[in-house]
Amino acid sequence: MRLAIVGSGAVGTSVLELAGGYGHDVVGVADSSSGAVDAAGLDPEAVRSRKHEQDTVGDGTPEDVLEADYDVLVEATPTTLGDAEPGFSHVECALERDRHVVLANKGPVAERYDDVRALEADSAGSVLFEAAVGGAIPVLSTIDDLNGQVTAARGVLNGTANFVLSRMAAEGLGYEHVLAEAQDLGVAEADPTFDVEGVDAALKCVILANVLYEDTYTLEDAEVEGIDDLPGSALELAAEDGRTIRLIGEVADGDVRVGPRLVPENGTLAVSGTLNIVQLETQHAGRLNISGRGAGGPETASAILADVGRLPSE
Ligand code: HSE
Repeated sequence: MRLAIVGSGAVGTSVLELAGGYGHDVVGVADSSSGAVDAAGLDPEAVRSRKHEQDTVGDGTPEDVLEADYDVLVEATPTTLGDAEPGFSHVECALERDRHVVLANKGPVAERYDDVRALEADSAGSVLFEAAVGGAIPVLSTIDDLNGQVTAARGVLNGTANFVLSRMAAEGLGYEHVLAEAQDLGVAEADPTFDVEGVDAALKCVILANVLYEDTYTLEDAEVEGIDDLPGSALELAAEDGRTIRLIGEVADGDVRVGPRLVPENGTLAVSGTLNIVQLETQHAGRLNISGRGAGGPETASAILADVGRLPSE
């Protein structure tokens, strides 16, 4: 497949570096202000050094990349709320040209799912978005494989919040201290607001609800509470009782909820560090647990490239 990648952060850069190993050519790469296009395939190292030295990926524009001759547009720009722009317009542009789209960006499928599906219905292209929920964990493809058997989903869907909670519980450290540590380690974004306020986990749950219920949920339909106001004493009290606290997202009975919840200290949901876990309730097969790395460049890129492999190639 010929890939065009929009977004040159950790995820877009990892797709550029790993695509060749999966048998694909990257024919275009864009960041927010520049673009590089080469029908013969771009050299990942040349793009990376150009970005490092000149803070641009090439001499072209992002529009040149959107108009390039690709089979799949990989959308890896930052998630935005509301109208989900500019990600939504990138999806629209590719589908109107009958090209496939693979998203890491949560915005278009969390905030404008019905618009995305309407565009897809009129296009020869398909839209896949495994990377938007739980990074490397194959959540959406598992739901798809189970053919409508999954009735509910819950789990830990934000690595930053989980790192903060597990460090606070294990070391007895305060919230601000651990959050600063997470930022120093590169675990948390420079602006971790979406992570600690529960918004990032809620967007993932909204996407799960859209897929499970084939409906149109948005962030406004979710009940969201973060961990930013959680006192350390709550974790100490929980530990006295053999329990701990995790930021749990849940999609069940038509509702979407995210908030800090008490879970058994050594239970399945008490994953540590930046790990994620998703529990799927099924009609005939009981509960499935899938755990792994929910964030990171190569991890998220592996989910994107798995989606590319699922697309029909002509
Ligand atoms: N910032 C997210 C996390 C990953 O910490 O899990 C991207 O959704």
